[in-house]
This record gives sequence, structure tokens and C-alpha cells, in this order.
Amino acid sequence: MSSNKVSIFLTGATGYVGGSVLQRLLDHPKAGTFDISVIVRNAEKAKILKSKFGVNAVVGTHQDLDKLEALAENAHIAFHCADSDDLPAAKAILSGLKKRHAKLGDLPILIHTSGVGVLTDEATSTGLFATETIYSDLDVEQLKSIPPTALHREVDLAIMEADEQGDIRAHIVLPATIYGLAQGSLFDAGVSNPHSIQIPSLIKAALQRKQAGMVGQGKAIWPDVHIDDVADLYALLLDAVLSHPATIGHGWEGFYFAENGEHSWYQVQRAIGEALVRRGITQDPEPTPFTTEELAKYFGSESVGRYYSGSNARCRAERSRSIGWKPRYTTEDLLKSVESEMAVVLKQQS
Ligand SMILES: NC(=O)c1ccc[n+]([C@@H]2O[C@H](COP(=O)([O-])OP(=O)(O)OC[C@H]3O[C@@H](n4cnc5c(N)ncnc54)[C@H](OP(=O)(O)O)[C@@H]3O)[C@@H](O)[C@H]2O)c1
Repeated sequence: MSSNKVSIFLTGATGYVGGSVLQRLLDHPKAGTFDISVIVRNAEKAKILKSKFGVNAVVGTHQDLDKLEALAENAHIAFHCADSDDLPAAKAILSGLKKRHAKLGDLPILIHTSGVGVLTDEATSTGLFATETIYSDLDVEQLKSIPPTALHREVDLAIMEADEQGDIRAHIVLPATIYGLAQGSLFDAGVSNPHSIQIPSLIKAALQRKQAGMVGQGKAIWPDVHIDDVADLYALLLDAVLSHPATIGHGWEGFYFAENGEHSWYQVQRAIGEALVRRGITQDPEPTPFTTEELAKYFGSESVGRYYSGSNARCRAERSRSIGWKPRYTTEDLLKSVESEMAVVLKQQS
């Protein structure tokens, strides 16, 4: 490892978000000055990452806490893109970064992936109303008021603690529903997953029941964001921490929502229903309510089903825009993307 290179560690290289961020690192004008390490559990993909992309790919899982810790300790910048909820893995990364700080005096930077799921509330995930509470990533008191029991929150709070102790500078990206096919050489090479989770799972359920479904009346609202715009936000944060780390918001002033519009779940399900009609799978594009049994059958459990399309999460990415983020895709693009997402799901199923 050349000492004058910027050492970067990234998790989730084979995933949708992490693959998109790694792609931005590889395509970055300063890519030649980066020394990138990743941890992946597929040995074949590790080989390709090394030989084709010049990435130091260590084979391991997030249960290999010693490997995570050592890789983080070797990095000035860590992107944790794999898992918003794995507390032991996050703690191992934090521990490595803290050790680095203690040994070298370097103030390491963590850019972590959480999600707007942190704004949801299981008790009100009924699909019967749209919440009026809208969070801003500039409103620190409002962000602090999110309960510790919220989704992703345990990990986010552990990261805030490390930032407050002065061991790291932490930045947390909270993407909305991400949509769109991720693109680039990592995806072409079959290394990284080009597909998102939430919308494809709704499409799969609709295909199985031959009718679009919804939780309650589909009135709950979520924000949305295209994968390219998400990757742009990470790239912008990277450029900011490389060029002026002391002035870019971190800790409680380092929450960055990624959203560029809002949809009701009815709108998404209706778009899915119309795509079913175009394929002759049903004649009726109107979504019908999922039964409790259907939620368990299609989404693994009733609560996951309610979360996926019955929960509310509303926010404004004001801090993200304040650092120059300019998302290009809108909710209209999300609704249009349902058509191509359904084509992909059908192709996979055939
Ligand atoms: N997609 C969205 O709409 C969205 C929105 C907001 C937040 N998020 C959050 O972002 C995170 C990543 O999501 P994603 O869409 O990128 O998911 P994904 O495509 O499934 O990627 C997950 C990545 O994590 C890796 N991974 C998971 N568990 C691992 C383990 N135990 N050991 C080693 N590697 C492990 C996977 O490796 P393998 O390839 O080996 O499986 C993969 O590289 C999630 O926590 C999600 O909640 C996603």
C-alpha cells in the first residue's frame, strides 16, 4: 500500500448500494489516488474485483469481526453500505476506526448507510392515512427525537456516540425507496447486484396474486430516489471530506436524507396494476387490500409487509441539497420504472 494514497474501506461491494458507491470510486477522476479494500463472501467475485478492478478484496463475512475491524483500522475513509442493522458489524468497524485514531492521530471518516425506514412506526403502518410529520436533515432536534427503538436506530446511535467522543467524523446517508437499475462495469461483470428490494418485492407479490395489492387504502407516503442520484450523494460527500473535511457537517449535523419526491403506496401499486393489465395478467389495474395471510405469504411476515407498503416516512433532503446535491430523477421516473422492473422480474422468473 502506497502511503500517499487515500485508504478506503467499503462494505457491500457486491450489493446494490455498495456496488453503486464502489463504481463511483472506480470511475472517480482521482481513482488513481485511492487504495480501496472491500470484504466479500464470494471468493470468485473477490478474484474478479482484484484482477479486473484492482480492488483489494478480502474474502470474509460480517461475522468475521476481526477482519472488519482490521480493514477499518487500515482505512482513512470507510463506506459502510452493506447493512443498516447489523450492530456487531458496525461496532467492529467503529472499533477499527477508533484504534486508527488512537494509534495514528488520524481522524477517520465514516460514511454509513441508514435509511428513511428509521422514520417509520410499526403501530401506524396501516395504509389508512398519510402522516403530516415531515423530517428535515437540517433539524437536529427533530432527528434526535427519533426513538431508540426505531428501525436502523441502534446502529445510527452507536455511530453518533463514536462521533461525539471525537474518534471519527461520521456521516449518515438515509436513502428513501431506491429504484432503478444500477449500471456500470461492476454490474456488467456480474460482481454487484443491480436490483433494489422494495418495489421488486411488490411486483413479485402482484404477479403471484395476479392483481396489484395494497396495505389498507394505500394512503401511506414514502419518499423515493433513483440509484444514480444516491451514488452521486456518496460521491459528493467523498469529494467534500477529501477537500474540506472540517467544514462538512458530521455527527448530528451529518445526517443526509436522499429523496427527490414522494409517492403514496397506492400510486405505486396502481402503476403495478397497469403494468399487469398491459401484460394481460388481469383486466383490472386497481389494487386490492392484502389480507394478513397474504402479507405473511408474500413478504415473509405481516410486519415486513406492512413496512414495505403500509408505513409512512416523510422527509426533506435539505442538508444534502445544501452541499450541492442535485438529484435528477423524480417520482414520475419511479412510476415509469415499474414497467421495466416488471420486465426484469418476469425475465428472472422465466
Ligand atoms: N435498496 C434500498 O431501497 C435501500 C434504501 C434504504 C436503505 N437501504 C439499506 O442499504 C443496505 C444495503 O442495501 P442494498 O439494497 O444494497 O442490499 P443488497 O443489494 O442486498 O446488498 C447487501 C450487501 O451486503 C452484503 N452482505 C450482507 N450481509 C453480509 C454478511 N453477513 N457478510 C458479508 N456481506 C454481507 C451482501 O453480500 P452478498 O452479495 O454476498 O449477499 C451485499 O454485498 C441495507 O441495509 C438496506 O436496508 C437500502
